[in-house]
Amino acid sequence: MTPPNQSRSPTQPSNPGETEVGLPATSMVDESIRLITDNAQRIMTWDYTRDRDQLVTLYNKAMSSQWNSVTDLDWQIDVDPERLVSEQPSGSMHLMTAACKIPGSPLATWGDKERIECSIELFKATLSQFMHGEQGAMLTAAKIVETVPWIDAKYYASTQTMDEARHTEVFAKYLYEKLGDAYPMNPFLDAQIMALLEDSRWDIAYLGMQIVIESLALAAFGDMLRRTNEPLLKKLLRYVMADEARHVAFGIISLGEYYEDLSEAELKDRQEFMIENTLRSQSRATTPEVWERMGVKVDEVVPFLQQAAREQNVHPSAQFQRGFFAKLVPNTRRLGLLDANNGYLRKAWQEAGLMEFEFADDTASEYDSYDAVAQDRAAS
Ligand SMILES: [Fe+2]
Ligand SMILES: [Fe+2]
Repeated sequence: MTPPNQSRSPTQPSNPGETEVGLPATSMVDESIRLITDNAQRIMTWDYTRDRDQLVTLYNKAMSSQWNSVTDLDWQIDVDPERLVSEQPSGSMHLMTAACKIPGSPLATWGDKERIECSIELFKATLSQFMHGEQGAMLTAAKIVETVPWIDAKYYASTQTMDEARHTEVFAKYLYEKLGDAYPMNPFLDAQIMALLEDSRWDIAYLGMQIVIESLALAAFGDMLRRTNEPLLKKLLRYVMADEARHVAFGIISLGEYYEDLSEAELKDRQEFMIENTLRSQSRATTPEVWERMGVKVDEVVPFLQQAAREQNVHPSAQFQRGFFAKLVPNTRRLGLLDANNGYLRKAWQEAGLMEFEFADDTASEYDSYDAVAQDRAAS
């Protein structure tokens, strides 16, 4: 399947010398290929003992809850993008309507047609980030297979790699077959995932992907699932979330054990990582290409959308942010990271007003409740 707005490019670097020593860790070969240098060492183990019971349970669960992207989803369903965005209450549509009315707004001439068209593009941009993020998760899970020292974790991460392949595939198929095309990866997500793939510490790939990004994904998918009525997307999201909840549980179970033996100084590094990835990096990159495609400059439209948000007292991402921290904070508590170094992370999150979520359900305790695949099979 070739994306309509991207051409197939040769998979070889244009200059073979580019890949030799001296190349930056991450570099573009051409518009369709990225080279990433992983600084972590691979580990092969001769210890095949299955003594991590929670990981064995999780692995067995992953095998029995695999689903088939071709036969378990009805790709014959006709998707009408206009209906899709018109039927779901969207904060961005509300903001656009309000921004149109502000004097001097670049959206002043917009009517329903443009607002719906723009909503479709914004929806495609969001799904595109899901697709790129899933590919990042596939590569990260494969890295964990290679770098984690425990056989039970290698087995589990292998099932996750397959899960993430299926997720990447279904989001790509939905975008290209049902909505037409996709947008590039936004710079925020790009930087976040590349850093995990390059890091020399195996647990940082886990912490960044399984705990931070997957908690974020669970919140984002849940948010979209609540708002959409489109049956194909609904089922796709339910099935993807069933897998994602297991992935987060995998992170909690593995890192909970590993962090018991780290020094305070090593734990401080991980606490810093969490602060960096939550408090200091909250600005999600927008997708300027959406506005360019709509004939508006992103720098010109954003101030009007912000003004509209202030005047309407609308916070488009507030519910999603709460959903994210309601997952992330209790999951981090399970890792023991809140209280190391005299509560360094607890204090930082306390100041940001996040500790109300400390005792919300953590995903290692509730992942089974997400298993829509098992629920559907039992019902049939
Ligand atoms: Fe995924
Ligand atoms: Fe995942």
